[in-house]
Amino acid sequence: MSLKTMLAASAALTALVAAAPSAQAQGSLTLYCSVQEELCRAIVTMFEKDTGIKVAMTRKSSGETYAQIKAEASNPKGDVWWGGTGDPHQQAAAEDLTVEYKSPKMGELYDWAVRQWEQTKGRTVGVYSGALGFGYNAKLLAAKKLPEPKCWADLAKPEYKDEVQVADPNSSGTSYTMLATIVQVMGEDKGFEWLKKLHKNINQYTKSGAAPAKAVNLGETTIGITFMHDMIAEAQLNPDIKTVAPCEGTGYEIGSMSIIKDARNLENAKKFYDWALTPAPQSLGAQNKQLQTPSNKATPLPKMGVDLSTTKLINYDFAKYGSSAERNRLLAKWDKEVKSQPK
Ligand code: F6P
Repeated sequence: MSLKTMLAASAALTALVAAAPSAQAQGSLTLYCSVQEELCRAIVTMFEKDTGIKVAMTRKSSGETYAQIKAEASNPKGDVWWGGTGDPHQQAAAEDLTVEYKSPKMGELYDWAVRQWEQTKGRTVGVYSGALGFGYNAKLLAAKKLPEPKCWADLAKPEYKDEVQVADPNSSGTSYTMLATIVQVMGEDKGFEWLKKLHKNINQYTKSGAAPAKAVNLGETTIGITFMHDMIAEAQLNPDIKTVAPCEGTGYEIGSMSIIKDARNLENAKKFYDWALTPAPQSLGAQNKQLQTPSNKATPLPKMGVDLSTTKLINYDFAKYGSSAERNRLLAKWDKEVKSQPK
């Protein structure tokens, strides 16, 4: 090889190394992730590959992540909170735990995602949406000679004693969405009567919202209350699972994303935020059994997902049920009047 060729090759190599995003040069990001583990990992892998930024990720349910961010407020450790139901993100915004940010990607989002951002004065944005429902294991139901539940009202009937599973609304955004939905569908007094009756039918309050769907799949519970997309995902593995959109109408979530106040890696947090609003990472949901409706209009809708335009949705009052006062009040009331009661 001539000296000229060697020099050219070495220059090309140097340029290549300089162009590759090196983790050291790009720094790091601490991500709090509130969807299911598979999707959290896929998001981290793609983001690290696209940017060279090294991500330390912790997965916890929505209510748990909110509690962690609040507990760490005087010494924040997280940079971005991605995913999880919108209500605790709204509460974090109202309590000054997260910061305002306007992404250049805002114009690419559906109105419901932008509304979430507007309602919180720019402190949280919608990344996906999904409707609440329940599902059952038809084989188990038939073996136990139980009728098919079609409505919220059915789930509180005595024949389903110990047959229903749902998460604890303190840790889980799914379950808090159920609590707020029931209060909106039935009114507070009747809703709490229903919750007390449902309590007698609950075999376990799980930590994570999607866990009851997995339990329906495994035959550990006959009925599970979850977001419909989580039940449909399990139904792809087990055709005995039937997913129900409750006859009275149902609530829904605006899965959200927020930048944590005093984030140590603010610039990388903004990079993640902008990136997470683009179609490529938003398509990772469908590729990882997560069938929510993504917020960027250009992201293809998951084939097996729930068509929200044909689902009977209630006019969920996000401002009220995402407010600190209302969320704290309802959770305290549920602890006192429902969970602590004997079965
Ligand atoms: O990841 C699935 C999912 O149902 C999301 O759509 C939702 O935001 C999240 O889980 C809620 O999880 P949890 O109820 O555990 O807070």
